[in-house]
Amino acid sequence: MSAGDAPGRVVLGVCGGIAAYKACELLRRFTESGHDVHVVPTTSALKFVGETTWAALSGNPVATEVWTAAHRVPHVTLGRQADLVVVAPATADFLARMVIGRSDDLLTATLLTARCPILVAPAMHTEMWQHPATEANVATLRERGVIVLDPAVGRLTGADTGIGRLPEPDEIFAVARTVLSRGLRSLLPDLAGRHVVVTAGGTREPLDPVRYLGNRSSGRQGFALARAALARGAEVTLIAANAALADPAGAKVVRVRTAEDMRLAVDEVAASADAIVMAAAVADFRPAVRADSKLKKGTSDPEPVALVRNPDILADISSNRRRAGQVIVGFAAETDDVLDNGRAKLASKRCDLIVVNQVGENLTFGSEHNTATILGADGSSTSVEGVTKEDLGHAIWDQVVSRLES
Ligand code: CTP
Repeated sequence: MSAGDAPGRVVLGVCGGIAAYKACELLRRFTESGHDVHVVPTTSALKFVGETTWAALSGNPVATEVWTAAHRVPHVTLGRQADLVVVAPATADFLARMVIGRSDDLLTATLLTARCPILVAPAMHTEMWQHPATEANVATLRERGVIVLDPAVGRLTGADTGIGRLPEPDEIFAVARTVLSRGLRSLLPDLAGRHVVVTAGGTREPLDPVRYLGNRSSGRQGFALARAALARGAEVTLIAANAALADPAGAKVVRVRTAEDMRLAVDEVAASADAIVMAAAVADFRPAVRADSKLKKGTSDPEPVALVRNPDILADISSNRRRAGQVIVGFAAETDDVLDNGRAKLASKRCDLIVVNQVGENLTFGSEHNTATILGADGSSTSVEGVTKEDLGHAIWDQVVSRLES
């Protein structure tokens, strides 16, 4: 498997909701990664963000009505030529119009002529999202193969909060990129009915109330794994250590700090998990003593810091508390003899799979892309090169799913 991140032609539909401003950020994500984007706002969307902004950010002309540049027959060509149509935000009214197949403006007409995947990110007030009419419309669109994201929970237009927020542009972009690179099949709900646990980030082991021993893991790979599993229909528990990343919409997120916190959090959910993926960088040691007050510099030479061993969460679960049929995946971050060390770790930690990647000053940590080899206890080896962390996540879930099914 190699990089499948070829830029494509994207139609970005924008409806009239306060979240229209967030679509500017989403547009940026697409253009910065080389996609050719045509923005098609509805008339109401232009009350929130004007045509000039869309044209300047996309570098393409912007039209709302089918009459603009009619000689190019835009209501047919835009849809036919698109590799993906994304509507973000989609209002309750727009979902209803999609369901009955209206074509009275450029965006609805484009949706009728498009034969590519369609991704819709609704945003509205909680009552509108939960109304039976909207629920029925969403169900109909999903039956027709439209990818309808669930809105996020959080602050709405005013002071009120609830479900209905537009998911963060990064979340929408991640799904869009997966569909563009892996096709609609990548969103088949092959993890539906499964509970998966993912750990992410890097633990911090306190020396005193302000200092800690830590590592450079950003948590991005674990969060991407969680998003990929959610897209495939799983119930996801994400145990995140010190990751400055937004909760993936739909995941149960448990925030922890130390290896011991992480062990307790994993223990709580491990028994009900069909798969556990330990992407977190867990500190092997912690300071033997945690000072209650800040350590002072003083005048004498510093004392060496005594360390004690942390529990190996992964090895303990796979050796002592593995549920029948459970698939356990470890990560091995290595600087040298990467594959040999990975194989040794796969055996010693008794995992079904281990994801081996090379790390170093300028490799992997915090970056958007990843190169890794997925080694199986059955002797399999799959290398995944230069892909997004989301796509590496999908490659890992592909392997997990095939093991769960056998
Ligand atoms: N891991 C764990 N608990 C620990 C240390 C690591 O569960 N105390 C898990 C990590 O989440 C990862 C795997 O074990 O999935 C391998 O982690 P890594 O740090 O590469 O391996 P170590 O066992 O710490 O070996 P070493 O540092 O000697 O390479």
